[in-house]
Amino acid sequence: MKSKSLFSAFLLTFMSLSAAYSADVHISTGNMSLVLDATPGKELRFLYFGEKLDEADLESLGNSGTAVLRAYPAYGMNCPAEAALSVVHSDGNMSTELVVEGVSDVNEADAEVTKIRLKDTVYPFYVDVCYRTYGDAEMIETWTEILNMEKKPVRLQQFASAYLPVRRGDVWISHLHGSWANEGIVACEALAPGVKIIKNRDGVRNSHTSHAEVMISLDGKPAENYGDVIGAALCYSGNYELKFDTDDSDYHHFFAGINPDASEYVLASKETFATPVLALTYSREGLSGASRQFHDWARKYRLAHGDVERKILLNSWEGVYFDITEDGMDSMMGDIASMGGELFVMDDGWFGGKYPRKNDTSSLGDWTVDTAKLPHGIAGLVEDAGRHGIGFGIWIEPEMTNTKSELYERHPDWVLKPEGRDPVTGRGGTQLVLDLGNPEVQDFIVDMVDRLLSENPGIEYIKWDANMAVMNHGSQYLDKDRQSQMYIEYHKGFASVCDRIRAKYPDLTIQACASGGGRANYGVLPWFDEFWVSDNTDALQRVYMQWGTSYFFPAIAMASHISATPNHQTFRVIPLKYRIDVAMSGRLGMEIQPKNMTQEEKDLCAKAIAEYKMIRPTVQFGDIYRLVSPYDGFNIASMMYCSQDKSEAVFYWWKLEHFCNEHLPRVKMAGLDPDRMYRVTELVRIDNKPLPFEGKVFSGRYLMSTGLEIPYTHNVDHNRRTDWSSRVLYLTAE
Ligand code: GLA
Repeated sequence: MKSKSLFSAFLLTFMSLSAAYSADVHISTGNMSLVLDATPGKELRFLYFGEKLDEADLESLGNSGTAVLRAYPAYGMNCPAEAALSVVHSDGNMSTELVVEGVSDVNEADAEVTKIRLKDTVYPFYVDVCYRTYGDAEMIETWTEILNMEKKPVRLQQFASAYLPVRRGDVWISHLHGSWANEGIVACEALAPGVKIIKNRDGVRNSHTSHAEVMISLDGKPAENYGDVIGAALCYSGNYELKFDTDDSDYHHFFAGINPDASEYVLASKETFATPVLALTYSREGLSGASRQFHDWARKYRLAHGDVERKILLNSWEGVYFDITEDGMDSMMGDIASMGGELFVMDDGWFGGKYPRKNDTSSLGDWTVDTAKLPHGIAGLVEDAGRHGIGFGIWIEPEMTNTKSELYERHPDWVLKPEGRDPVTGRGGTQLVLDLGNPEVQDFIVDMVDRLLSENPGIEYIKWDANMAVMNHGSQYLDKDRQSQMYIEYHKGFASVCDRIRAKYPDLTIQACASGGGRANYGVLPWFDEFWVSDNTDALQRVYMQWGTSYFFPAIAMASHISATPNHQTFRVIPLKYRIDVAMSGRLGMEIQPKNMTQEEKDLCAKAIAEYKMIRPTVQFGDIYRLVSPYDGFNIASMMYCSQDKSEAVFYWWKLEHFCNEHLPRVKMAGLDPDRMYRVTELVRIDNKPLPFEGKVFSGRYLMSTGLEIPYTHNVDHNRRTDWSSRVLYLTAE
């Protein structure tokens, strides 16, 4: 955020504030209410967050016996409680006491923003507590803008985006954790006395280990399709902290914001610091209900091109790794085109001048084409893609360099590292992170992308990778007294780079990859169209990873590729049918060397691609209903997408392990219109005989109350039998 423009906005707002305020502020969407008591001269108080209140309940709210809680607690005056904000004022005073000064409303293009101006009772120090709502999304975005009008800098030590009290009871949280190649694993636990912190310290990527989103189930163990759920997503690309403090009160105190560890921010006089948005949703339809609200909001407002169908692509990585050649790329392009694919993405290995990129030990930063590998350059490949009738995309990793690179030789001062020490290196033993807080580095990245795209206007897709954590605390650009701002400045710089690229290339498709799923977060998605869910393409493990990831992110953003067998990460052997059926539940693509596939395999992929095109609108824009969780021990996972008008649906069923004569549950569908009739068609069919319900018609009511009996195995010739089984059913309303 630009401090200058915010400051002038502040002056305007400030002048108009005294004119209009009301004691109770009601922030609402179609189905949600958040109510605050904003009495001028008093602390801002939280009154309610939940299902939408009508006028009568709003009137009576003050008499419900609810405890009086501060809406944005500041440290220093009422010290025993946890605070959202903790600052050291310019004279060393560590206490802050904020009272309401006024409320203002601003209309944006699609949204309404309410700002409640708080002022310290002694210092010219202000906090705007902000809320944004949209006419057509069940989401309340909240954040703060902290303004220092003291004569000298104020040090921000804690600066949460928001605080939300959650009434104790039988409250559970579900959140995602994991690691590289095992991202998005669901962790589910009851909140207990003490502090629960979900956090990240990677510095660059923030969703390998834990995720910055959480579901809070208010009435017992989380369920997919019933129960009251608050969903919260911190929209930030850097280090974050989600904290639940269960103290001696009746509440779990939830705080969400930038991780303050090693990140004190020195707020200059007249500077405004805007905290990242916390997106809040509330559903009475269980976890899936909250997911649907996240997905809908994301597609409309928080994801690049959320209303545009994604192309089906082949990525070269697992097919050839660094072994890029012109002929090799041409043959892959021809193959994906012949299977009906629409785009080819050339991954790592295409660049380098003095140090050609042969492996991961060199060349990042030297973004010139390696003409030994590609004699006709990128332009030649783009032209070739055009001949095959498909689009062309390319891999870059702009935030990084290697010690073995011309860039590092020219600009050793551009990398993050502490003064007087040799940096710790990352991938390949030579990788280093560039200092994105440095405007020269920002210009370098923007110019590099601009050059690549302007010289090759045919490039329509970029895979933007980031394969290293900040392993060295130190910016060679920032002053000594601002070293603690390194993480925050990095992500401000990253945001500025993304803004500038998007301003010039609004139509480009950009994938956020970060050693796999390291950048699945709503901080980056406004600029990115999708993310790579994981470097692990094993279909079985993907069932689990994609399940968790779908809690917060829509299928349109989840890149999901058919890869080789044995799988390159797990070495598991999984039949192509199953690999296809899992990949088809996300943004379908391929990550394989087609040259190594048989014609029969290619034919099955071509069939899958053709059928995916048919269901693509439902998968990518539909409503998700998760039905049977892979975590529940029933040995299957099942979910579905229903088109918004309920005229079409896609049902997925994956068996997880194989035992003879086991008793798998019959799955009841959800999300259909009970009064409509649906015709059932199996997709990617490999069985010799159609399923008994193939082409038959059932009511939505029957499908949702009883469901279909899915056979445990595939009806194929004996020599083709395996222990794997999966189904994709397409339902169309009559
Ligand atoms: C990372 C990505 C992979 C691939 C390689 C290339 O690991 O996650 O998909 O692009 O880098 O080096």
